[in-house]
Amino acid sequence: MTAIRAAIKPTRRPGELGVHSVDRFHFAVPDLAVAKTFYGEFGLEVDEDGEFLAMKTRGNPHVWVTLGEGPRKKLGHISFGAFEDDIDHFSRRLQEMGIKRLDPPPGIESNGLWFRDHNGVPVEIRVAEKSSPNAKSVFAAVSAPPGVPGAVARSKASITQPRRLAHILLFTVDVARAIEFYSKVLGLRLSDSSEGNIAFLHGVHGSDHHLVAFARSSGVGMHHCSWDVGSVQDIGLGAMQMAKKGFVAGWGLGRHVLGSNYFHYVQDPWGSWSEYSADIDYVPATTDWASADHPGEDSFYLWGPNVPEDFIRNYELGN
Ligand SMILES: [Fe+2]
Repeated sequence: MTAIRAAIKPTRRPGELGVHSVDRFHFAVPDLAVAKTFYGEFGLEVDEDGEFLAMKTRGNPHVWVTLGEGPRKKLGHISFGAFEDDIDHFSRRLQEMGIKRLDPPPGIESNGLWFRDHNGVPVEIRVAEKSSPNAKSVFAAVSAPPGVPGAVARSKASITQPRRLAHILLFTVDVARAIEFYSKVLGLRLSDSSEGNIAFLHGVHGSDHHLVAFARSSGVGMHHCSWDVGSVQDIGLGAMQMAKKGFVAGWGLGRHVLGSNYFHYVQDPWGSWSEYSADIDYVPATTDWASADHPGEDSFYLWGPNVPEDFIRNYELGN
């Protein structure tokens, strides 16, 4: 598996300094045992790693998320992956922009470049294998031929296990400043935005429509993490497997406009969301995405059930 991955050359846009992936991110919750159950039932592999939980997807040793314990749910840091020969350029850029370097947060061993974003959130740029996709992820919509049943017995339904972290959506105080900071410092590009309320950014070396997105709030926070699955069927079965375990609160099935992905969100025990996502738009390294600002009523979702009343509530406010 490792050998196969190593043989695939990551896509790269020459002459552009930009991070290529969200390598991992960190947040805290009050009870790691509850988190282990929630994310394990969601279909992730959740391992204990010292004082943290490490979240992986099946068959891949990559750690997408680390979770620590804290008094309340709280966004920690975000580590972006960069190509090795870009690190010195990023270091120079930080210096030229007068951005102060930090030590890694307590308990984190990493020799990447650490600093704070426009809202004070710790950010790292580290050398990492490109974990964002190098092509649009496979999406299956299989129709049974005539004379053959298309569905299986409910007792034989497969368990949904996401293939990779798709993106994260963070609360920020000022979306315009978030776009500016993450574009100028990290080299991300704006895919689409809506009226200062939300912005979606992609990686210039080839990534989904968004690696990271920002929603307006009066403070920072983690709104959702999104996990790529291969079909609408996987989304539906994922929603069912969570509901069966008591994680009924959610939003879906639906389809977004910006990014175009099919979705179902499951609310975690601390009010944020974990998204099953399929068929999100892809921006190749060779393509300039036609970025635009869209009216709110025309951009959130194309179809789906009514939005839960607390869908965009920032449960981290007041920390
Ligand atoms: Fe999402």
